[in-house]
Amino acid sequence: MLESLTKKAQVVLRDSFGVADVPLEWHRPQDISHGDASSAVALRIAKQTGKKPREVAEELCNALSAVEEVEKAEVAGPGYVNVWLTPAALLQALNETREACTARVKRSGEQPVIVEYSAPNIAKPLGIHHILSTVIGQSLANLHRHLGYEVVAINHLGDWGTQFGKLAVAMQSWSEKPVEECTLDELLALYVRFHEEAEKDASLDDKARAAFKKIESGDAELRAFWKEVVRITMEQLNVLYARLHVSFDYTHGESFYEDKMQPILEEGKKKGVFKEGREGALIAEFPEETNLSPAIVLKADDATIYFTRDLATARYRIDTFHPREMLYVVDIAQEYYFKQLFAALEQLEWELPHMEHVVFGRMGFADGQMSTRKGNIVRLEHVLDEAFKRAEKVIQDHGDAIQTDDPHALAEMMGVGAVVYSVLSQNRKMNMTFDWEKALSFDGNSAPYLQYTHARARSVLRKADEDVSDFPTSLQTLVEKERTLVGTLLEFSRILEEARVTRMPHTLANYLYRLCQDYNAFYNDLPILKAEGPSRPLRLALTQCTASVLKAGAEILTLRVPECM
Ligand code: ARG
Repeated sequence: MLESLTKKAQVVLRDSFGVADVPLEWHRPQDISHGDASSAVALRIAKQTGKKPREVAEELCNALSAVEEVEKAEVAGPGYVNVWLTPAALLQALNETREACTARVKRSGEQPVIVEYSAPNIAKPLGIHHILSTVIGQSLANLHRHLGYEVVAINHLGDWGTQFGKLAVAMQSWSEKPVEECTLDELLALYVRFHEEAEKDASLDDKARAAFKKIESGDAELRAFWKEVVRITMEQLNVLYARLHVSFDYTHGESFYEDKMQPILEEGKKKGVFKEGREGALIAEFPEETNLSPAIVLKADDATIYFTRDLATARYRIDTFHPREMLYVVDIAQEYYFKQLFAALEQLEWELPHMEHVVFGRMGFADGQMSTRKGNIVRLEHVLDEAFKRAEKVIQDHGDAIQTDDPHALAEMMGVGAVVYSVLSQNRKMNMTFDWEKALSFDGNSAPYLQYTHARARSVLRKADEDVSDFPTSLQTLVEKERTLVGTLLEFSRILEEARVTRMPHTLANYLYRLCQDYNAFYNDLPILKAEGPSRPLRLALTQCTASVLKAGAEILTLRVPECM
C-alpha cells in the first residue's frame, strides 16, 4: 500500500534534492492523531542535501498530497512526514491482511527449514520446563509453514547414553516387575534410586557403563529392554503432544545416529580437526580467536557422546534434507555447547546451511503457586491438568456470561492455551514467569482474553447472518475506533515476517493482544449490527477480518479459539 508513496517520495528526493535510491521506512505512529504512516526520512537525509529537515519534509508532503491514496500529508516536529490515507486506500489494503490469514502456497523446489525442538530425554516424564522448547519450536515451525516455507520438524530424542546403562542396572537390582509392566513413574523412581545408591557404592557407575556398552554392542536382551523404555516414554509423550497440538515430521532419537558417527570421526582425524587429547580422549580444538575450550568427541574408553551424535545429526540432516536453515530450539544452558558444535562443524569444512541456536531462558512460577519438594521436577502433565481444573472453575464462576455447549472442551482449550500463551507471550530470551492469575485472566494479555475476543467477533457474525465479503470502498470517512482497528489489522503481514526473522513468537502474541484491545474498544463504542448505511457492512467486514486474524495467529501459536464462549 505504501509503495506508491515510497516511489513518489524517492522521485522528489532525487529530482529536488539530488539523492537517489534512498530507502524509505514507514512507521505507524503510536498516536492516531499523527496519521496512518510516518517517515523520518527527511531527518535522516537532511545533512546530505544541505537543507533543514523540515524543508525537505515540507517538499515531500506537498508531493505526497497529490498521490491518489493520500488524504493529507503534514510535517510534524523536527521534520517527520505524517501521512493520512484515504478510507478507500486503507480498506483496499486490508485485502492483503485477509490473504495473510491463510497459509501461503508452498514455494516449490525450495530448500526446507529444519526446526528441531522438544527433544526430551527418554525414561523421564516431561517437566514443565520442557514446554518451552516444545511450544516455541512448534510455533516457529507453524509460522514458517504459514509463510510458505517448506519445514522439516524434528524431535531429537535423548534416547541414548549411559543413563540407559544406569536404568538397566537399577531394573536388574531393584525392580519387582519386568520393564514392560512399568510405568514411566516407576522408571523414574528406579533412576532416582540408582543415583542414591551410587553415592554409597561407586561400583554401580562402572556397572552402568558396562551395561550401556553392552547395549551399544547389540546385546539382545538389553536392547529389548531399551526399546521397551523408549516405547513407554513415547506413549506418555504423545498424549502430551496431542494436548499441546504439537507434531513432528521425524522423531530421530540420538540412537538413530549410532552407526553414523564413525565416518565423521575418521574424517575429522584425517583433516586434523580431531586430535588425541589428554588421557587418550579424542578432542576438537578451536582457533584461538573463538575463545572456546576444546570439546571431547570420543572418550578415552571409545564411547561416543552427545557432541559426537550432534555432529552426525548435522551431517545426516544436510545430506537428507538439503536445508537452507537449521534451527535448534534449545535451552540457554546449552549456549556454549552450541558454539562449540557450530565451530566444530565449521572446521570440518562442510558446506553448511545457516545454523542457529534459538535460545530461551528459564521459566519460574510466580511465588509459591506451584512448588514441589526439592529435586523434583514440576510435571508438565500436572500443570496442564491443574490448568484444566482452574479453567473449569473460571467457566463455572462466569455462569451465563460464558456460553458453550461443551464446557469440558472449552476448559481444555482455555487451560492448555493459558499455559502455552503465557510462555509464547514473553520474550524467549529473558527468564519467564508463570502466574496462574495472569494466565487465566479474561481481560489481560492471556489466552482466554484472545479466545473470548474471537468468540465475541464470531458471535456478531452469526447474528448478522449474511455474507460479509467485500470492504465497502465508497466510504468517505472512518471514525477513530474504525481507523485504529484498520491500522492494527494492516500490521498483520509485517508482524508475521518480523516474528519469523527474529524467531520471536511473542511479537505475534503481543500483536494479537493489541488487536483484541482495539477490537473490543471498537465493539464497545460503536454499533455494529445496528449501524446504519455503509457503516454496517464495513463494521461487519472489520469484525470478520479480526476473527480471521485472531484465529490464524492463535493457531500459529498452537492455540485453538472457540466459536462461542
Ligand atoms: N535432549 C537434550 C536435553 O534434554 C536436548 C537436545 C538438543 N538438541 C540437540 N541437537 N543437541 O538436554
